[in-house]
Amino acid sequence: MQLSEATQYIKTAQLLRDQIPSKSRYPFHLPVVNMLEKLSFHPQVTYLIGENGMGKSTLLEAIAISAGFNPEGGTFNFNFSTHDSHSELEKYLRVAKGVLRPKDGFFLRAETYYNVATHIEELDNEPSFDGKVIDQFGGVSLHEQSHGESFFSAFLHRFRGRGLYIMDEPEAALSPLRQLSMLARIHELVHEESQFIIATHSPILMAYPNSIIYEFSQNGIHKRELEETNHYSLMKQFFDDRERLLHHLFHLD
Ligand SMILES: Nc1ncnc2c1ncn2[C@@H]1O[C@H](COP(=O)(O)OP(=O)(O)OP(=O)(O)O)[C@@H](O)[C@H]1O
Ligand SMILES: [Mg+2]
Repeated sequence: MQLSEATQYIKTAQLLRDQIPSKSRYPFHLPVVNMLEKLSFHPQVTYLIGENGMGKSTLLEAIAISAGFNPEGGTFNFNFSTHDSHSELEKYLRVAKGVLRPKDGFFLRAETYYNVATHIEELDNEPSFDGKVIDQFGGVSLHEQSHGESFFSAFLHRFRGRGLYIMDEPEAALSPLRQLSMLARIHELVHEESQFIIATHSPILMAYPNSIIYEFSQNGIHKRELEETNHYSLMKQFFDDRERLLHHLFHLD
């Protein structure tokens, strides 16, 4: 079996347009949902990028729930809820799965990571024969590590390969150097038959070569090369000629 076939746990996501209850309310009113056709995922890495508020997290969450994750995030086994605020998009999304099932998985949501950390502590406070869950995360309570450290230790220790990893802005906690380390770890995990779907604003993180980048905008979802993306060209402009950009920004004479 080709590596690509082995790792395509999720192949496509398609909106069941004729079944949606209303086009005028969240999440169906969002242009990216409204104009959603069939989205094909790369067997290795797929990026969802675009401006704030375009609907990346909304779509990512619906994909993750359809893939069997808890809306709050965590592994496939995590089954807890602190509040139930997810959109109903997943009911109207048909997600086509591949031949093989992932052996590992994680849905990382930036805003609920704290809840996952708390849940691990609660699990470890209960008697168990299986060893402590926290040992899978590097052994130190995720609450006692910095945001970046705890995320990175989860990424290094908890992600074991042959996995489906869905992540929402994982760069939020990471320094540029750690973002590069993350790319290196993604590369290792890809070679251990893993598939990633990542929403990100980071031009560093979106640079994995074997990937598809989908840019979300008011005009729907479009496939882009890294150099064609708004994020990349803005960053490039900034670093190439910061003075000029700042000049325009501050309306200086
Ligand atoms: N529970 C909700 N009810 C109503 N509207 C919502 C809800 N959650 C998000 N929205 C709106 O839907 C839009 C898309 O939100 P979403 O979080 O998916 O954007 P995003 O692309 O992930 O943005 P960002 O880059 O800032 O994370 C936003 O305008 C947001 O205000
Ligand atoms: Mg988001």
